[in-house]
Amino acid sequence: MIITYICPKCCRNLFKTGNQLKCPVGHSYDISSEGYVNLLLGNKRSGLHGDTKEMIRSRRRFLQLGLYFPIVDNLTRLISGLAVPRSAFSLLDAGCGEGYYAGNLKSALTLNGLNCDIYGTDVSKDAVKSAAKQYKDIDFSVSSVNKLPFADLQFDFLLSLFAPLAEQEFFRVLKKGGYLITVSPGARHLWTLKEQIYDHPKENPPPSFKSSLFIESSRYSVSYNIFLPENSIIRDLFDMTPYRYNTSESDYKRLSKLDSLTTEASFEFCIFKKYSDTGGNYVEIY
Ligand SMILES: C[S@@+](CC[C@H](N)C(=O)[O-])C[C@H]1O[C@@H](n2cnc3c(N)ncnc32)[C@H](O)[C@@H]1O
Ligand SMILES: [Zn+2]
Repeated sequence: MIITYICPKCCRNLFKTGNQLKCPVGHSYDISSEGYVNLLLGNKRSGLHGDTKEMIRSRRRFLQLGLYFPIVDNLTRLISGLAVPRSAFSLLDAGCGEGYYAGNLKSALTLNGLNCDIYGTDVSKDAVKSAAKQYKDIDFSVSSVNKLPFADLQFDFLLSLFAPLAEQEFFRVLKKGGYLITVSPGARHLWTLKEQIYDHPKENPPPSFKSSLFIESSRYSVSYNIFLPENSIIRDLFDMTPYRYNTSESDYKRLSKLDSLTTEASFEFCIFKKYSDTGGNYVEIY
């Protein structure tokens, strides 16, 4: 199964010619030596930047420890249950970061006997470069979720894992009958860690994505404790989250006193279905 990329300048389909993707008008985009394609226009001017190299390195080191592997496990179970048996399907990880979930899902779904083409896209070129180097069986691109470089109605699944949501674009690229799966931090995710840093830690708000286009079909939480045996691991975990940039230097310094820590990991899974190409107004008829 081949997914069609579209030209970010004129929205016509892109075709592979040598080491480039080209549209009929002549706009062309190089496929990098790592195998990804940059389809983001004017990111400097638009102010979009995504995660920094430091955040990406911290996330890569932390995720490789496997402490968030239960997310991969849950997604594998969910997708295996929803996919049509014995037929190939396509999945887009939108805001894929350094590719951990896309890469590990590909292996896990393949082990389950499923034939899945996985695509990953992120606005951070550094993240996508790192992803493409590590996970060779995934197609990666640089783009914003607000302007996805894919033709309409192509994906069976769309994942948004701790990443920005773009309802209209997700709806456009998903097939009718396709699923959007979001994962976000639970109310007390990393609570004990937050208690060490903040005088008054706040719980995370519940998932707030309300859609007029998709129908929410289910949601559930997954919570467990993780043991962080070293200061460098605690720091990587903290540094890969948006907390890093919303924390004062004096609060951040409290991290250096921690040699090890057990803290909660808590995740909210939400599953939405695209019932029609026009969205909304879905009435179940028995
Ligand atoms: C918290 S990270 C999660 C990364 C990955 N999904 C994971 O869980 O490991 C959020 C990601 O969203 C990306 N991002 C932020 N704004 C974006 C946008 N407008 N379009 C695409 N990706 C974006 C960031 O670059 C970053 O990689
Ligand atoms: Zn074009």
